Amino acid sequence: MSHSTPAPRIVDQAVRDRNIERLRERGVVLPRFSELANPQSIPHAVREDLKSVDRDAAHPLNLFRVHWFNNSSTLEEPIASVPEHLVLPSELTGVDARIVVLFGNRFPMIRAHKVLAAYACLVPRIVSGAFDLGRQRAVWPSTGNYCRGGVAVSRILGCRGVAVLPAGMSAERFRWLEKWVSDPADIVRTPGTESNVKEIYDACHELARHPGNVILNQFSELANYLVHYRCTGAAVGRVFDSMVSPQPLQLRAFVSATGSAGTIAAGDFLKARYGSVTVAVESLECPTMLYNGYGEHRIQGIGDKHIPFIHNVMNTDVVTAVSDRSTDALNLLFNTAEGHRYLAERRGVTEAVLMQLDSFGISSICNVLAAIKTAKYYRLGPSDVVATIATDGAEMYASEKAKILSQRFDGRFDTADAASVYGQHILGCATDHLIELSFRDRERIFNLGYFTWVEQQGYGVDEFSARAKPSFWSGLQDLVPAWDAMIDEVNAEASVTAV
Ligand SMILES: Cc1ncc(COP(=O)(O)O)c(C=O)c1O
Repeated sequence: MSHSTPAPRIVDQAVRDRNIERLRERGVVLPRFSELANPQSIPHAVREDLKSVDRDAAHPLNLFRVHWFNNSSTLEEPIASVPEHLVLPSELTGVDARIVVLFGNRFPMIRAHKVLAAYACLVPRIVSGAFDLGRQRAVWPSTGNYCRGGVAVSRILGCRGVAVLPAGMSAERFRWLEKWVSDPADIVRTPGTESNVKEIYDACHELARHPGNVILNQFSELANYLVHYRCTGAAVGRVFDSMVSPQPLQLRAFVSATGSAGTIAAGDFLKARYGSVTVAVESLECPTMLYNGYGEHRIQGIGDKHIPFIHNVMNTDVVTAVSDRSTDALNLLFNTAEGHRYLAERRGVTEAVLMQLDSFGISSICNVLAAIKTAKYYRLGPSDVVATIATDGAEMYASEKAKILSQRFDGRFDTADAASVYGQHILGCATDHLIELSFRDRERIFNLGYFTWVEQQGYGVDEFSARAKPSFWSGLQDLVPAWDAMIDEVNAEASVTAV
């Protein structure tokens, strides 16, 4: 399996030419990375046309919605000047620090942020000719949302997309995939659940034997790191800059539960710009970074038992773990009438906030709890901001609610349960299972990656070790303008010939 996001140069002219032909036939214009980072720069005409495009359709213009700035409240202005977000009130979080959450369910088609990573991983291959849209299948290994994003992008571009994901993921994900793949064989179910990333790799090795399959491995694609550094980092920065307060605010931390560790790249951007610390989060039931641990867990989207190649571990400041008992319980508190009643009547949470709680999927709740832990650990106050993201919303987990009810609550959830869940999992959210990483701790986590990438996946020791140096990560930044230039050339050639 290759991790090589291609260098910004043409690797196969004939394939590139065929790709241009296909883009022209399908009327696809490829957005640049810079446009997705700053959607205000998307041409006026595109923004006008977007007004009449359904955000859930496989429409080429929806590529221009693959960013954090979608306006969900009105079609009149599809692109917002500030990403939609919520500053969680202390009535809900129990801490004074301001925890701000950006909403991933505003992304198009899959209503989750992973469509951004999927587009970023494919587009360099299209413009360089490293992937043949008409003749190859794009294979998307994932624990759930990345493969949906990949299938959506594949469908727009007119290529076959193959989703590889554990069979134990939510029914909603499979229902979505069944509607979007062009052939049912393009959904490959691997054994297990969240933490079974090795089984996903094994299936990909099998598929990679066929030259018609190209594996877009999010766990090692540098484009996944870069797109989150540029786009997610800038989006969080924009939200922070827009926050008003009587006293000056400080961005103290960016918190992200890691799956492929793409999203946490935003932490590198934010640290460089605002001096925030970067907090990596995992499930307590599978505490790989924290304790070199292993196990099964239910926080869908955060894959485990390995350290992704694209995780800049040496720049990560804190590792913490959240139990799936907490995320399951809060899924009910946030998404039941009883939970809302309790939060409103006993905690004073406003209707406006309650209405947004369905934008929090399971890993989003995990992020919020880790943000609370971070705020408590650093004893943060009202002028301190902890930023995180809600990767997807609760709609992906409706079927999980029934399971949680029967497995954890004897089939019913009443006001007393709501009170106990709030007390135990929010007020009781403590600073346990959290380490502020020393240099040695970082090295220990970094070294753990050796067993996946060198021993298991056959990478060279040198390419593995190079990532310990900050210069490796800063050096990657030059790729982005170079890819943008190649995107421009492809767009120009596709439309010039079309005239
Ligand atoms: C629901 C959900 N949460 C969190 C993540 C983790 O994000 P990342 O892979 O960028 O680390 C994912 C990734 O697939 C996800 O689908």
